[in-house]
Amino acid sequence: MSETVKMSEAQTEYLNLVAELMTIRKRGDVPLAYIRTYGCQQNVADSERIKGMLHEAGYSFTETPEDADFILFNTCAVREHAEDRVFGNVGALKNLKRRHPQILIALCGCMMEQEHVAKRIRESFPFVGLVFGTHCMHEFPELLYKSLVDGSRIFVRDNDDRLVHEGIPAFRDGSFKGWLPIMYGCDNFCTYCIVPYVRGRERSRKPDIIIEEARDMIARGYKDITLLGQNVNSYGKGLDPRPTFAGLLREIDKIDGDYWLRFMTSHPKDCTRELIDTIAGSRHISLHLHLPFQSGSDRVLKAMNRRYDRAKYLDIVNYAKEKIPDVSLTSDVIVGFPGETREDFEQTLSLIREVGFTSLFTFIYSPRKGTPAAEMDDPVSDEEKGRWFRELLAVQEEIAAERCASMVGMIEKVLVEEKAKQDGRLCGRTSGNIIVEFSGDDSLIGTFRNVKITQARNWILNGELADQ
Ligand code: SAH
Ligand code: SF4
Ligand code: F3S
Repeated sequence: MSETVKMSEAQTEYLNLVAELMTIRKRGDVPLAYIRTYGCQQNVADSERIKGMLHEAGYSFTETPEDADFILFNTCAVREHAEDRVFGNVGALKNLKRRHPQILIALCGCMMEQEHVAKRIRESFPFVGLVFGTHCMHEFPELLYKSLVDGSRIFVRDNDDRLVHEGIPAFRDGSFKGWLPIMYGCDNFCTYCIVPYVRGRERSRKPDIIIEEARDMIARGYKDITLLGQNVNSYGKGLDPRPTFAGLLREIDKIDGDYWLRFMTSHPKDCTRELIDTIAGSRHISLHLHLPFQSGSDRVLKAMNRRYDRAKYLDIVNYAKEKIPDVSLTSDVIVGFPGETREDFEQTLSLIREVGFTSLFTFIYSPRKGTPAAEMDDPVSDEEKGRWFRELLAVQEEIAAERCASMVGMIEKVLVEEKAKQDGRLCGRTSGNIIVEFSGDDSLIGTFRNVKITQARNWILNGELADQ
């Protein structure tokens, strides 16, 4: 059972104390913070809350670590490569700290919930002053204040209190695309995955709080809102009365306005026909379903503890295709899970061909300390896994190109997001999350436009404005 608590007055008071202190201690005109976020959107959303607290304490933000009073890396533990990048980039701060000893360097996020990582930071990175895990974010004002006044190193983690902390202000990076967390943690324990260990048990935010936040974002001009959770389909577990995810979507969809509603991630084991019907019948939910399948082989799915099989996955996908004719399907897939054979891998290839995904996030299996898969026999060589991986990319490239080519001539509603590399060109996304480039004025950024698709370039589309 999860319980909701408001950010305490004591923590708000710490923000005031930090603000007071920083009027004296700041290096420039205003105290500056540099925040770097690794990993998934959940981490991006957490960083936005940390920025919200810093903003209340009077900080502005900089993209240049050299100018900062406070440097924070919000870290990701999902694959070894992600961790290596963090260690490398933290190491590079050593000289900066030597030149400007008054800078406070802090690390937070998923990596910091792992004991061996905290130990390595303690021993090998003495210039890092503050380390806190994902469960301690609501105590950030106090931790920051104590680090600033005390100067001794602070390490806190592993405080999975199963509470949902509300009332932490978000300072969002974007002004028209925004993340909205609906739940935290994960109970699924897929055997390869570190997330349940570093994010704790699943807990859902209350529907009225989420709906209010969505309403506020829409009123402030957000055009693309993504509801976040590791498994949004099990939203509501532990709340009384128990809401369903489809029900939550329907409530948000009732809010008037010109916006798209997205969500990630959906776990196939809990993806219901009701959810598909909800998308099909909605006004705002984008025609996009990100449904990670991880492997096309039943044997591997079982070893991964995914709790669905290929047939169940295809069943829900086929239902989605039937009910939402233009649905854009995307997915995550792992190549080289321990014990995966060439035959298993070919099952993955055949599933990709059968479904016809718009795009795929593809990963080579990376052993994570403390997870069951890290103890499993893994006889296939890295070279062989690399070959499979490239083969998979080539197949997917073909499929994506075909799907994009089938869109030529269509008129698509596009949210204009940013300037493209080429001068005078803009970049946007369709409801199905496909990137489209076209010529237009910068003033269109942040608006919806109709774009006629003129050409397919692998997984990116070219187009022209249809309503100038
Ligand atoms: N909760 C989401 C995924 C979160 S992690 C879900 O279940 O779909 C994002 C992706 O990283 C996963 O879908 C998986 O494909 C990949 N991943 C997770 N752990 C991994 C590991 N140890 N090695 C390689 N890829 C991994
Ligand atoms: Fe990891 Fe599985 Fe949870 Fe996703 S559902 S976060 S892959 S344990
Ligand atoms: Fe990484 Fe943590 Fe997300 S491990 S993928 S940042 S939940």
